[in-house]
Amino acid sequence: ALLVHEGSCPRSGLKGADDAKTEESNTMSNTEIVVVGAGVAGLSAALAVAGTGHDVTLVTKAELVESNTYHAQGGIAAAIFSDDDPKLHAADTMAAGHGLCDPKAVDILTREGAERVREFAAAGVHFDRDAHGHMLRGLEAAHSRARVVHAGGDATGKVFELDVSAMVRKNPRIHIIENAFLKDLIVRGGHIAGVHLLIDGQDKDLAADRVILAAGGAGRMYPYTTNPPVATADGLAVAWRAGAQVADLEFYQFHPTAMAVGEHFLVSEAVRGEGAVLLDEHGHRYMKDIDPRAELAPRDVVARENFRVMQAQGGKPVMLDVSPMARENPDLASFLAHRFPTIDAYTRSLGFDWSKEPIPVAPAAHYWMGGIRTDLFGRTSIPGLYAAGECARTGVQGANRLASNSLLEGLVYGRRAGLAAVRDENGTVWQPESFTDSEIIGLPVAQNPMELDMPGAAGAADAASVWGRERIEREMWEHVGVIREHDGLNAAVGNLSDALAMANGAVVNGAVANDTAVNAEPTAYVDLVTRMENRNLLTVGYVEAIAALNRCESRGAHTRSDYAEHNPTIAHSIAYRMKGTPC
Ligand code: SIN
Repeated sequence: ALLVHEGSCPRSGLKGADDAKTEESNTMSNTEIVVVGAGVAGLSAALAVAGTGHDVTLVTKAELVESNTYHAQGGIAAAIFSDDDPKLHAADTMAAGHGLCDPKAVDILTREGAERVREFAAAGVHFDRDAHGHMLRGLEAAHSRARVVHAGGDATGKVFELDVSAMVRKNPRIHIIENAFLKDLIVRGGHIAGVHLLIDGQDKDLAADRVILAAGGAGRMYPYTTNPPVATADGLAVAWRAGAQVADLEFYQFHPTAMAVGEHFLVSEAVRGEGAVLLDEHGHRYMKDIDPRAELAPRDVVARENFRVMQAQGGKPVMLDVSPMARENPDLASFLAHRFPTIDAYTRSLGFDWSKEPIPVAPAAHYWMGGIRTDLFGRTSIPGLYAAGECARTGVQGANRLASNSLLEGLVYGRRAGLAAVRDENGTVWQPESFTDSEIIGLPVAQNPMELDMPGAAGAADAASVWGRERIEREMWEHVGVIREHDGLNAAVGNLSDALAMANGAVVNGAVANDTAVNAEPTAYVDLVTRMENRNLLTVGYVEAIAALNRCESRGAHTRSDYAEHNPTIAHSIAYRMKGTPC
C-alpha cells in the first residue's frame, strides 16, 4: 500500500460528466443499484435514485432508523435566512477546514444544501418553527451567522430520520433489507459487481452494477464516543479491502463536550451557542484565554483545550455551566427542558439538575473528516462504487468539520451519488490524478494473516490473542487520540498491524466464518458480527495511525505534540491497498 500526499493537482479529472451533464437523463433501466446505510446520506441517495423512476435496494445493518444521523442533536447548517448567503457559509466551512477543503465541493455543499433543506421542509420534515411558522435557527461554533435549523429542540437527527425513513418506506421503488451486515464488496474485472451480506447468520450475495456506500462512521474504535454501536467503519473497511483509495484518515474529529459520566452522551454545541461556558476545576473560564471566540471557537480548538485542561487537572472532567443563559431565560429549567429536551432528560436521569449546577463534560470521538476518496458525484476509484456521508471524503470537511455540516453533506452528496449512479454510463470511471514519485511516502504493509484456528475448536489461547473491542479502543485512545506524537503513533502502527494480521487470519482461517452453530445460537451470531466489526475497526485504525504518523504537522483535528506548527506544504494524504497484499 502507498500513502501519498497530494500536491496541487486539480481534483476532478472525472470522465463523462459535469454538473449539467449528470443531471441529464441517461437512465439505464436494467442497472441494479444497492445503497448500503440508512442515515441521511443513504436515505437521500435512495430517494434520489427512486425519484428518477429507477428501483433501488437499501441495505441497513440494523433497523432502518438506527444510524449516526438518528443521534445528531444540534441541527443542519443551511444558508436559508435573509441575513445569510451560501457564500458566507462556504467561507466559514473553508476557514474551519484549515486549507484542506475543496472549494468547489464546499460551494456545492452550501448552495445545494440550502435547496435540499427547503425541499425537505416543504416535503414535511418537522423542523422547529415559531408561532408564525418561520423556521427557528441556532448559532453554533465558528459560524458567522445563526443558520442551524433544528427539530424536536435537540433531536434533529431523530426527527429527520423518522420523517425521511417514513418517506422511504412508502416509496414503492425502494426495497429495504434490514439487519444485514455488509461483509465485503464483490468486484469483478475491476468493476463493482455486488455485495456480500450476512443476514440471519446466512451468507447472501446481492448482485449490483452500482453500490453506494453510505455506511457511516467509526466512533466505536475509541472508548469515549458519541457514536452508536453500529458505527464500526464497515463501509470504509470494505472499500479499503476492495482496493479503493481513501483520503485524509488522520483527521478524526473529537467533540468537545460529551457527558463525562454514563455513556458519553453528546451535549450539543448548540448549548454553547445559547451561551453555556466551560470551567476548569477552579471555576476559571479558560477558553477566553485561548481564542477570542472562547467557547464558540472551532470544534478542534475547544476539544483540544478541554483535553489539555483535563490532563492538567489529573483527568478530572471540565464543567459546562449553562447559568449565563438565565439572563435571557429567567425560568432556566423550563427553557432547558423545551430547547434541549433530550439532553435535559439524560442529565436528569444521571442525577444532575443542570439548571442549578455545572455538568461534567469531556472530549469524545465524534466524526471522521477523512474517508473513501470521491469526486463531486460520490464516484470512488473503483468503477461502479460510490460513497457518501461520513464514510466518504468528498472534500467538504477538510481538516476539521464545521458544526452541523454533516447532515448537510449527507443530504447533498447522498443525492448526487444517487443521481450519478443512475445516469453514469457503464464504464464511467473517475481517474484520480497520477502520482509523482516524489510524493509517495511508503506505507508499511500489514503482515500476512496469521493462521488461527476457530475459537473454541482449537483452544482458547488462540482465540484470546485476537484483540477484543476494549483493547482496540485503548490503543486508539492512547496513541491515535486527541493529541499524538511520533513514538506513540509508531508503537500503534506496529501493534495495530499485528492485531490486524491476527484478525485477518481469524477470518481467512474460518475463526469468524459462519457455521451451523452460529445460525442456531443468537449469541454466537452477535459474537461473529462483533469480530467482523473489530476487524473493520482495526483495518481503518491501522491506516489512520499510519496517516497520522506521516503527517508531521498540527492542523485542524490532527494535533502532534512533536510538530506543533502547521506546515502548509503538506496537502491531502491518500492511501490504498496494494493489489495482492493482505488488508
Ligand atoms: C452537536 O450538536 O454538537 C453536534 C452536531 C455536529 O456534529 O455537527
